[in-house]
Amino acid sequence: MFRYLASKANYEEENIPNYDLPNPLIMKNGSTINTLKQWNQKRRPELLRLFETEMFGKAPKHPKDMHFKILTEDKNALGGIATRKEVSVYLTKSDKHYFTVLIYIPNKRSGAVPLFFGLNFKGNHTISLDPGISYPTPEKQKEFLWKRLPPRGIAAARWPIEMLMENGYALATIYRGDIDPDFDDAFKNGVHPLFYKKGQHHPANDEWGTIAAWAWAMSCAMNYFETDKDINTSQVAVFGHSRHGKAALWAGATDQRFAMIISNCSGCGGAALSRRAIGETIQAVNQQFPHWFCRNFRKYNSKENTLPFDQHELIALLAPRPVYIASATEDQWADPKGEFLSGVHATPVYEFIFGAKGLDAKEMPPSDTPLQDGSIAYHIRSGRHDITQYDWKQYVKFADKWFRK
Ligand code: GCU
Repeated sequence: MFRYLASKANYEEENIPNYDLPNPLIMKNGSTINTLKQWNQKRRPELLRLFETEMFGKAPKHPKDMHFKILTEDKNALGGIATRKEVSVYLTKSDKHYFTVLIYIPNKRSGAVPLFFGLNFKGNHTISLDPGISYPTPEKQKEFLWKRLPPRGIAAARWPIEMLMENGYALATIYRGDIDPDFDDAFKNGVHPLFYKKGQHHPANDEWGTIAAWAWAMSCAMNYFETDKDINTSQVAVFGHSRHGKAALWAGATDQRFAMIISNCSGCGGAALSRRAIGETIQAVNQQFPHWFCRNFRKYNSKENTLPFDQHELIALLAPRPVYIASATEDQWADPKGEFLSGVHATPVYEFIFGAKGLDAKEMPPSDTPLQDGSIAYHIRSGRHDITQYDWKQYVKFADKWFRK
């Protein structure tokens, strides 16, 4: 399916349809937003509601019976440089429904430390060869039923744990399948059924898809971080690569406790403008991943111009917090230019409403030349769709700038 869709996609700028981007500072009813108060009380809630009901879907409130348990703790992990914890976040009174947060905290620290927090694709045990990380339990392996469980450490190249520890950052991650497995099973597995009303068997048209569920779980995990004295919860950077970048952006929009948001190659439904319809389109994403967004989003298949928002307004919902948008040269499917432009077009909200510098650029920078002066940073790395050491180096530099002033 991917090859088929990718081969049929448009990759030419000259074939982009004509479009007008909605102005983030103009309300649906036409009135203009001039003040912080108007933004906070009128436009921000309006935009948030539109993204919620037309794209990601409404998630429930945090469960009232949510509770946490430290399942394992090793103060001498990774040769003594880190403390490793595995914490379960239980969603109901019983201990049956939960997801597990894996956390590394640098041992060289004085007081609470800032945190990088993001989802992983294949299981917590894949982010490092560290033998102390638990495997997902058999019932949590639904995504792997038809394959074998991915081996320990297979994704380690994407997770520079030692480098983060050396730089004084904690790292936390959740295996996304632990929240909602990433395939379309009409929402039978994962967290959705726990919240169905009586007689409900499927989320309503405006209710949460899988990406909203992932973002919601990250917000639930934030409640745990608030109880952990080693983590500075005013300095949590939520990050994600690709589909997890889409989730990180939505987590940042819906939970303002996340102090920094990092979108790595998030593409369509993430940082890339939908109206450009280049590379992956709304129709393509809805066709290949019908479970990611709410059903209402399908109304906009091949009708990008009728969307009541575009993705620059998702970035605007993060203001005034620092945001990093990153692309890769070979990742044309994710539309690097569209990712860049959403930072540019979110900038008026940073500037006029918050007096902050956004992404101050007219043209895309050359590859491997990060723009990090403002609150919205951007780079395009040479190479493929991935999150690399190069990307991480930039994120740490950006976090140093904001968290270690
Ligand atoms: C596919 C999908 C993208 C997504 C990516 C990923 O390519 O079409 O939208 O970002 O997978 O998650 O790696």
